[in-house]
Amino acid sequence: MTPPAPPRPRTATEWIAILDFGSQYTQLIARRIREARVFCEILPPDAVDRLGDERLRGIVLSGGPASIYDRAAPELPPDVLARQVPVLGICYGMHLLARELGGRVRPAEREREYGPAVLEVETRGVFDGLDARLDVWMSHGDVVDRPPPGGRVLARSPTVACAAFEIPGRGIYGFQFHPEVVHTPRGGEILERFLGNVCGCARNWEMGTFVADSLAAIREHAGDRDALCAVSGGVDSSVAAALVGRAIGERLHPIFVDHGLHRDLDDVRRMLDLLEESTGARVNWVDASDRFLHLLRGVTDPERKRRIIGETFIRVFETEAKKVGVVDLLVQGTLYPDVIESSVGHHAAARIKTHHNVGGLPERMHLELLEPLRDLFKDEVRQVGEELGLPRDLVYRHPFPGPGLAVRVLGEITDDRLRKLRGADRIFRDLLRETGLYDETWQAFPVLLPVRSVGVMGDGRTYEEAIVLRAVTSRDGMTADWARLPHDFLAECSRRIINEVGGINRVAYDITSKPPGTIEWE
Ligand code: XMP
Repeated sequence: MTPPAPPRPRTATEWIAILDFGSQYTQLIARRIREARVFCEILPPDAVDRLGDERLRGIVLSGGPASIYDRAAPELPPDVLARQVPVLGICYGMHLLARELGGRVRPAEREREYGPAVLEVETRGVFDGLDARLDVWMSHGDVVDRPPPGGRVLARSPTVACAAFEIPGRGIYGFQFHPEVVHTPRGGEILERFLGNVCGCARNWEMGTFVADSLAAIREHAGDRDALCAVSGGVDSSVAAALVGRAIGERLHPIFVDHGLHRDLDDVRRMLDLLEESTGARVNWVDASDRFLHLLRGVTDPERKRRIIGETFIRVFETEAKKVGVVDLLVQGTLYPDVIESSVGHHAAARIKTHHNVGGLPERMHLELLEPLRDLFKDEVRQVGEELGLPRDLVYRHPFPGPGLAVRVLGEITDDRLRKLRGADRIFRDLLRETGLYDETWQAFPVLLPVRSVGVMGDGRTYEEAIVLRAVTSRDGMTADWARLPHDFLAECSRRIINEVGGINRVAYDITSKPPGTIEWE
């Protein structure tokens, strides 16, 4: 039996569908639309059944790596134009629209553009109130040679004659440039105009309404059933617990499972105390560390680690559920990026890693999932936490992955290697807090590498393992930049880790952004 489809509180009164043709920027389109206070979802191009929803206000077609001339290039599903809602095609999406509606698209000769370009606006429309020349980001191999009949060119670039078109009266737009990336500084405003003026969105997606609507949806879904809630002391599970607790009161049973892979149990205890104080719920603490660590012994493959942890979590929850009595539901703090990056049920986006609370779940499980935050990005979850009155310390904590230190101890997980990582973690975290850099970074942690290098300490040779420090700035973890931590600060971290943590003789700093890296190393 596969797990039942997770119930989603559908709280938005209006929404935009983003059909993903495989662009690396699709999630950014979703971000920009949410920032404009319109709910949106990324869907595979064949999810046409979802487009029948009467609350749908518009469709955005993403870019993609293909050329419409490739043999296996994804097609424009006929339902897109049949829905009679506005459609915006970006890059590949623009080419699909232009060809479908009778325009002409051809491979670029000298007009290929990759990188910054200047857009020269010829007709205002969605560019109303913006400058006549706009910095934009281009990345394409094909160009629209002639807009569809009835269409008009809105803007050109020095090399491309049709960099944006519109079919007046039909709400159909095509952009050759990418309004969703930061290198198109006014891109958000252009999208806002499309959403407000063309799609007629009220732009009322906000977390206060989300909370009110979610409470009703959770009560309706849960009925008189009891729910177990997996809490970790982190932001997402705390917000999920607070939300569901407010909806169903004492029928919520929060449970903390110690998998032996936490960085600092005292810190977790403090966070769970805060959660108990602000929600009135009692958290049941279960020590399953021996079971997890036993199953992980000798395992080095990152995806296997994740699957073992996901599976074992569920088995522990099932055992605990029996102790409570009849419990049917399992609440998890799964977020939208977890869903996207595990690419569950989505063929266009490549699977990056199996976030343990999504794809890492076993096929067979006896608890139905309730994931009230599944549609939200991290910053939206934090706003929900504030709406629910959770303390700042809890809401603005750095994220910590469900599989814990298992994905930061690269290679085999042993007690001694966990000790090294915890030692480095405490020093790094203390120094970040002491210097006020904790709040300036989105996430920061050490990683233990499975390599040894030669060093010299005192008069002797050492041959020991290395720690990498990772610190990033981000908004929601979907993209991230490495944090420019001061050199003196890094020097102090390195000095203390090598002096105080036995078995470490080298410290490096990770200067990879996401993409191309991910935030965690596994
Ligand atoms: P990546 O490494 O995918 O991480 O760039 C993005 C954010 O997600 C966290 N992360 C996880 N969180 N379960 C979680 O609850 C997981 O399996 C998982 N893997 C990564 C990561 O710490 C970062 O904040």
